[in-house]
Amino acid sequence: MARIIAFFNQKGGTAKTTSTLNVAAALGERGRRVLALDMDPQASLTMATGVDIATLPLSVYDLLIDEDLSPTTVAVPTAIPGLDLVPAHPDLAAAELELLNVLERERQLDRRLRDADLSAYDYVLIDSPPALNILSINILVAAHELVIPIEPHPLSLMVLRRLFDTVGRVRRLNPALRVLGFLPTKVHHSSRLAADMLATLIEEFPDLALLPAVPLSVRGAESAAERTSVLQYMPRSPVATAYRQVGAWIESSAPIAPSRSGEGIVVHG
Ligand SMILES: Nc1ncnc2c1ncn2[C@@H]1O[C@H](COP(=O)(O)OP(=O)(O)O)[C@@H](O)[C@H]1O
Ligand SMILES: [Mg+2]
Repeated sequence: MARIIAFFNQKGGTAKTTSTLNVAAALGERGRRVLALDMDPQASLTMATGVDIATLPLSVYDLLIDEDLSPTTVAVPTAIPGLDLVPAHPDLAAAELELLNVLERERQLDRRLRDADLSAYDYVLIDSPPALNILSINILVAAHELVIPIEPHPLSLMVLRRLFDTVGRVRRLNPALRVLGFLPTKVHHSSRLAADMLATLIEEFPDLALLPAVPLSVRGAESAAERTSVLQYMPRSPVATAYRQVGAWIESSAPIAPSRSGEGIVVHG
């Protein structure tokens, strides 16, 4: 069964899209087959994977509102080895309104993923919008596991409380949802801010893991503009090395056991 992992944080700029792309590339390098879902109307992941939005017949918007569609039908191949993508389109912003009229609107993504034959994939990675809205709730209901990318910033810790409040409320709909851990991104190793943030995370969230940190690198961040992954664009760079470590970390973290009792890591409110 494919592991469904969402890169989730309602704060913008925490490297959700960069991490989805490069972890997908890292898993692809390891011979895994990955399906990525771009759930952000800004379609940054779609553009970063080299997919041309203008010519797309279908997007994740269609998938959400049409119950006859499957993610495998909507998926397109990308320039990144091993990676297929369910692309986003600016239309996705309208899905929020359209879903208002749909019964169980927060379960639509979950339904489509449950109904699909995902046996061609080892992982489904979901890139989230910088918001807590119906699209993000759909992600939280559908995911097995969350990775929370977090950048050293004084506001980063404050947004976590709201994030975990929301996760706590969604647990009713997705009791087995498991928070894999925090992924520190854009970390400047000599920065006091980063060291303080990591220390606070460990103190406040002792049950949650810290994934291998991704260093700050202006050049590493240019790969999205190159419409490929850092692993391909700058294979020996510290950012590429870090994302390979994140990929390996995720592979070695045990996948969630299907459980009816729905225990998982209890999240601090
Ligand atoms: N390791 C990094 N070093 C420097 N800049 C980065 C790094 N990772 C991402 N960025 C840049 O930070 C910005 C936000 O990243 P992005 O992945 O779009 O975040 P999000 O999807 O969470 O909004 C982008 O301009 C991106 O190029
Ligand atoms: Mg993004």
